Order: sequence, then C-alpha cells, then structure tokens
Amino acid sequence: MRTQVAIIGAGPAGLLLAHLLHLRGIESVVLESQSRKHVEERIRAGVLEQGTVDLLVESGVGERLRREGLTHHGLELRFGRRAHRIDLSGLTGGRALTVYAQQEVVKDLIQARLAAGGTILFEISDVEVRGVGTNAPRVVFRKDGAADAIACDFIAGCDGFHGVSRASVPRGALTAHEQDYPFAWLGILADAPPVSPELIYCQHELGFALFTMRTTRLSRLYLQCAPDEDIANWPDDRIWEKLRARLGGGAPLPEGPVLQKGITGMRSFVVEPMQHGRLFLAGDAAHIVPPTGAKGLNLAVADVRVLAQAFAAHYESGSSAALDRYSETCLRRVWRVQRFSWWMTALLHRFPGGDAMRQRLQHAELDYLVGSRAAMTAFAENYVGLPFED
Ligand code: FAD
Ligand code: PHB
Repeated sequence: MRTQVAIIGAGPAGLLLAHLLHLRGIESVVLESQSRKHVEERIRAGVLEQGTVDLLVESGVGERLRREGLTHHGLELRFGRRAHRIDLSGLTGGRALTVYAQQEVVKDLIQARLAAGGTILFEISDVEVRGVGTNAPRVVFRKDGAADAIACDFIAGCDGFHGVSRASVPRGALTAHEQDYPFAWLGILADAPPVSPELIYCQHELGFALFTMRTTRLSRLYLQCAPDEDIANWPDDRIWEKLRARLGGGAPLPEGPVLQKGITGMRSFVVEPMQHGRLFLAGDAAHIVPPTGAKGLNLAVADVRVLAQAFAAHYESGSSAALDRYSETCLRRVWRVQRFSWWMTALLHRFPGGDAMRQRLQHAELDYLVGSRAAMTAFAENYVGLPFED
C-alpha cells in the first residue's frame, strides 16, 4: 500500500488531519489499534473552544455539532462559599464555548472520512515507524494477524501520549518537559440533569470539584482525589456526598444512576521539537495538559490545522518552509495553553498537606480575578481559546 501521509491514531487529531488533507486533495491512510466501536464510545473531553467549533463547521463536519452542541456564554467560579459568574462572551466580543462530547466529534469525523471513500484501518497491531530520516518512510503493522506496510511521503504521529510515534524517535533527538501533580480527578457520567446550565468550577478546602455536562439530561462531574486512588473505594453514595459538600449551597444537586466512573491522572508534558525528519507529532502524542482548562482536545485540533496547511503548501507549491516551521508555530500556542492549564490547576486544587499559606494565596488570587475586569478578560480570552496564528 502507498499513500501521501500515513496517520497513526484515529483520535480527534488523526481523524481531523485526514479530513483536512482530503479537502486539500491530499491522500492519507489512518491506522488505529482499537476498534471503531471503542474509539466512538471512549468518554473524554466535552468542551470545544470557539476556534475548534469554527474549524469543524467551516470544514463541513459541524452539522450535528451545530444542532446538538450546547453553546455556553459564561461559567461559574465558586470559592469561600461564594459564587461568581464570568461572562465569557461579554468579555471576548461574543466568543463562546460549546459542550459537545469528544466521542461525538470522533463519530462525525469517522463518518465523513468513510463517506468520502477514505481509508481508516481499525484493530491493527505491532505498529512500527521506519525510515523517518529518509525520503521514503514506512509504517509496518499487522492486520488480522498478517504483516503489512504502508509506504508514504510523511508520517503523522497522532497516537496519543502512550503511542509508538514519539517513542520511535531516537534518544536525544527530542527534549521532554514534564510535571506531575499530587492529585487526580475522579470523573463520573450520571443520568441526571446538570445542576446549572453553565459549568461550575469549585475551589474548596476539601478539594476541587467540577460540575459540567454532556447534554441537558446527562451530567459529567469531577472530584479531586489522590493520584493512587482505588476506584473500588468510591461507591456512588460516597461520590455524591463529596460532590454535594464541595458544591456548597444553592440549587440541590440532581442525582441519578452513574453510567461511567474513572480516574484520570494529571500531568503537564511537552516534547520539543514536535518533528523528527518526516515524522510530525500532533495532539497528545506531543503534549499533555492537566484537564482543568479543558484544553487537550482543542490543542490537538490547533496542531493539525497547522500541519494540514503545511502539507498543503508542500504539495501545492513544493515549498517545505511551513513544514520546517511546524514545530515552532505549534509550540508557541502549546506553551501558552500549558501555562493557562497549569495556572488554573494550581489556583483551584487543594495541595496535600493543607498548606494554609497556599490556600490564602489562592483565595486572594480568585478574589482579585472576579473583582477585576482586566483579570477576568485575560481568563476569558484563554478559556474560550486564543486566536489561531499562522
Ligand atoms: P487520542 O484521543 O489519545 O487519540 C490517539 C489514538 O491513537 C487513539 O485512538 C489510540 O487508540 C490510538 N493509538 C495509540 N497507540 C497506537 C498505536 N500504537 N497504533 C495505532 N493507534 C494507536 N480536552 C479538552 O480539550 N477539553 C476537555 O474538556 C477535556 N476533558 C478531558 C477529560 C478527561 C477525563 C480526559 C482523559 C481528557 C480530557 N481532555 C480534554 C483531553 C483530550 O481528551 C485529549 O487531549 C484528546 O483526546 C487528544 O486527542 P489525540 O487525537 O491527540 O489523542
Ligand atoms: C468536561 O466537560 O468533561 C470538562 C469540562 C471542563 C474541564 C474538563 C472537562 O476543564
């Protein structure tokens, strides 16, 4: 088999890249280790920045998103028994965020790709990246037990944090920057209407909590927990009790059957550069942000937007200048988003040891934030998403 761009990973990054390349007349093959059902049911992100929504709509895969996505013009911050709304749209000239589940974005992209005659190979194994330092890279893999290979011009490593792409780069060629956090998130999906029509981020002496949603009937709720927490110690009653305590007063928290439960670790990670020879890393394969700013999926989208344009410039004009600048262009945004995600994480979580000094400083910063239009504007600009740069 031969193609122009071999894409490893059918997450949001790989699928959107394949779609954007198709619109520019560039062929690709997507290789995915999991089944189609698995990737279409994997519960993850839910908040799309304005720029992400615009890109999906403009590229023709936003029809269901426009119909079913929930537009949010603000969010609430709770701390010290007080609630403050941040008017995201009012502070950013009308920009907003949209709640639409990541697996729905994935379903829409898979459907568009297959309807256009594109190739996505699911359930492949033993993927290896070969020859990225040459003009003839290849991806070798097994499908239904049989060895196979794809020859290509370029490889896009869109296979997430634990994928093979980044791991295949020779030692020393990439520099990794990493920070772990001394806490994790326990997340549930509940068959219950959201407590509020807008997201609520709670800073609480018992620990952080987040009240978000997937639809007007499905709540997505998160609680700060220990990084080594055993989910077996969290029966549903205990989760609801902690959520109620951290939410504090106001409207009572609607409860319902817990449909899914899981623990997510938190880390900040960036690899530099995001390219090695003819291998280009995008999305979680190149960087991870802690989920507090709701940025991971959006950053993956921003990367592949740049990458698709750079491939198009290469094939249309023969110039490799944009491909050569890919890493530099992306990393500028990656570091800004890392900074925002790290800042929000440090601002809202309880650090082990219950350091009273840190808590006072967090309160002072939150107090300043909600009392200053300038500070709220900076927050809102980052939360709805910084403009794309070329
Ligand atoms: P992935 O989605 O991880 O896709 C990589 C794909 O590659 C997967 O399908 C995987 O199966 C495949 N793969 C891996 N290894 C191989 C291999 N060897 N061969 C072939 N295929 C392989 N982000 C937000 O923007 N907003 C949010 O609200 C948000 N909330 C989150 C909540 C949680 C609980 C979690 C866990 C994440 C959240 N994120 C959020 C982050 C977001 O989900 C990720 O950043 C996003 O999935 C990145 O997309 P990706 O395509 O780069 O990687
Ligand atoms: C979500 O809806 O899953 C979500 C929202 C905001 C975040 C993280 C996750 O910061």
